[in-house]
Amino acid sequence: MNPAELASWVSAAQGAFLAAPDLESLKTARLAHLGDKSPIALASRSLGSLSPEEKAATGKIVGEAKAAITTSLDLRTKELEIERDKKVLLEEVVDITLPLKRSHRGGLHPISIIKNEVSDFFIEQGFAVEEGPELESGWLNFDALNIPADHPARTMQDTFFVEPVESGMVLRTHTSPVQIRTMLTQEPPIYVVCPGRTFRADELDATHSPVFHQVEGLVIDKGITMAHLKGTLDNFARHMFGPEVTTRLRPSFFPFTEPSAEVDIFFNNRWIEWGGCGMVNPKVLATCGIDTDVYSGFAFGMGLERTLMVRHGITDMHDIVEGDLRFTRQFGVGL
Ligand code: PHE
Repeated sequence: MNPAELASWVSAAQGAFLAAPDLESLKTARLAHLGDKSPIALASRSLGSLSPEEKAATGKIVGEAKAAITTSLDLRTKELEIERDKKVLLEEVVDITLPLKRSHRGGLHPISIIKNEVSDFFIEQGFAVEEGPELESGWLNFDALNIPADHPARTMQDTFFVEPVESGMVLRTHTSPVQIRTMLTQEPPIYVVCPGRTFRADELDATHSPVFHQVEGLVIDKGITMAHLKGTLDNFARHMFGPEVTTRLRPSFFPFTEPSAEVDIFFNNRWIEWGGCGMVNPKVLATCGIDTDVYSGFAFGMGLERTLMVRHGITDMHDIVEGDLRFTRQFGVGL
């Protein structure tokens, strides 16, 4: 083993490393030139059989040769790693301008859209949103609202009673029981809206559906008058139908409000009935334990299907309940 021999191993190794086109081939070259059976490894191992003086001299040049081979391997490894990374970036590049396969994303039903719209409008004014159950006790749906047992709304025609009939449970016929639930559990001042699903035993036709939606509004505070009711309805109507719309109150009757009114809107050059409203009947306030000497309030309720139909000129309720996407898509995704 002489320096010339060592130099030839070094240059053979360097040549092999440089010639390796990728990391895989470099591994093979490393085994050949630095592995256990490589000349430099065999040389290192044979040092043990030399005399101490020879060992020092030869050990030094063998060590230097090995270091040279290792350095050249490290350099080539780095080079090939950089090349590999560049190649990965190029090969795995994503063309973000390619058109994607369009799949339909889910969208909200127009009733959900309008329900959110109503809730958002009232939340902005400081109201809270309350939701009660769809399966409701007859007491909350009727009695607490001062609807007597012989009231036509309680007959089999209007109300879905639930078996067993003795349970006294009904599918709520309006969102007004949520008024009662709220007054029973919260202290005034109360400012809430209650949107939700309601049920009446009607046949599905162009203007009726046995399952529909209402939004209820309830305000209980000191000194609340019908002027507050009118102002609230005006703002609400303008938000839903546009700035030009006006409202009018027509005297009416509901057992749970006194006085009561129908609220009409002047929209598209005609008066259209929108919902019911009134000052909360003191009897109802008393049932809920609210001091009628201190507090008064108003309530209103309107149908969301009706609101949607009037606003968008929808003439057939079937379009709202059938869920045909050609209808729904016209209202946008709404997500
Ligand atoms: N609950 C009534 C209905 O369904 C509407 C209404 C609500 C009337 C609140 C007055 C006050 O017809």
